[in-house]
Amino acid sequence: MSDLASATLIVAAGSGERAAKGDKPKQYRSLAGKPVLRWALDAFAQHPAVSLIQVVIRENDKAFYEEAVIGLDLPAPIAGGSTRQASVANGLEALVERQPAKVLIHDGARPFLSQNLIRRVVAALESADAVVPLLPVSDAIWRKKQTGFETISREDLRRAQTPQGFRFESILAAHRKYRDVPVTDDMALAEHAGIAIAEIPGEEVNLKLTNAEDFELARRIASGTLGEVRTGSGFDIHKFSPGEHVWLCGVRVPHSSALEGHSDADVGLHALTDAILGSVCAGDIGVHFPPADSQWRNAPSHIFLEKAACLVRDLGGVIAHVDVTLICEQPKITPHRDAMRRRIADILDIDFDSVSVKATTTDGLGAIGRGEGIAAQAVATIRLRTGAI
Ligand code: CTP
Ligand code: MG
Repeated sequence: MSDLASATLIVAAGSGERAAKGDKPKQYRSLAGKPVLRWALDAFAQHPAVSLIQVVIRENDKAFYEEAVIGLDLPAPIAGGSTRQASVANGLEALVERQPAKVLIHDGARPFLSQNLIRRVVAALESADAVVPLLPVSDAIWRKKQTGFETISREDLRRAQTPQGFRFESILAAHRKYRDVPVTDDMALAEHAGIAIAEIPGEEVNLKLTNAEDFELARRIASGTLGEVRTGSGFDIHKFSPGEHVWLCGVRVPHSSALEGHSDADVGLHALTDAILGSVCAGDIGVHFPPADSQWRNAPSHIFLEKAACLVRDLGGVIAHVDVTLICEQPKITPHRDAMRRRIADILDIDFDSVSVKATTTDGLGAIGRGEGIAAQAVATIRLRTGAI
């Protein structure tokens, strides 16, 4: 007797050749702050009918995978094969000992499947051995010939999506039997094995990210899920003490004095950390890193900023933009401005173009005007999933 109703197998062991761009395979690239694979994982993890999720990955991608599944309780990933078919077969074999009654097989490169689609696949499997979401073709279809084109009737054409659902034993047997018959997906294998296939309507939004330009559309869809915009502000000031450099926005700037403080006294990063903490109502820097705690003595301030960014990410949010204003007579900020922007972008893991650093003096007025120290203020704009807090 099976101990599991429905297992899910997510294949993510491809190399994403056609989408090649950037430093990660497509299934690990970020969409609204969340890796493509994580979108699919969250959809299945949220669904009550799914009791086990097994992911198949490339050995080389282990570090990307670990980063993508933080906080999820999943079995260790299985190594894929050189084709999608081989990757699915490896995943199914790994599930054998769990004896699921049904299995949903999904492409890790399809991030936007809905709860409703999962529910409909599972429901249709009650009375079918194989279930496939299909969509009609609405564009005119032309076949390219040696010279010119000829039209093809689209009436009978369908586009197949995943998740495709199967009775576990039957798709496992088909994979074992037709290992050497190359097919594009599991529906084709089921067809080959003579398994009756039930069709359900697919969803246009459940697109498979294939080419580099698919990411533009995906970014728009993902960004639409971040409905709530938050703004946080931060301020900090440190006074000068004897020394020969200051830390400002993560950059070491030569100066005739240092800044006094418990950590490295980087006013820019401190103001920015408070701005980000403010945007998610998470107190201030002193709450997370008490000055009385000796472990933060001389600490580099990027630690504080990383923590704030981490809190936003944990809420499923993204940092859309940050703006830091340094207020001082000296040192001159302009020569270091872009290095500061780059450093902040690195620490927050956001685009350079989403980081602004600027400077002003107080026209000789007040303590800052007398050259007694440096102040900074910062504003952070965050986008959260509606209801995240
Ligand atoms: N896949 C897999 N193992 C393979 C090949 C593909 O697990 N050897 C997975 C991919 O990771 C993807 C799904 O199968 O989630 C659909 O494949 P495809 O869109 O073709 O992805 P890639 O093979 O990665 O892309 P490309 O063909 O452009 O290299
Ligand atoms: Mg492929």
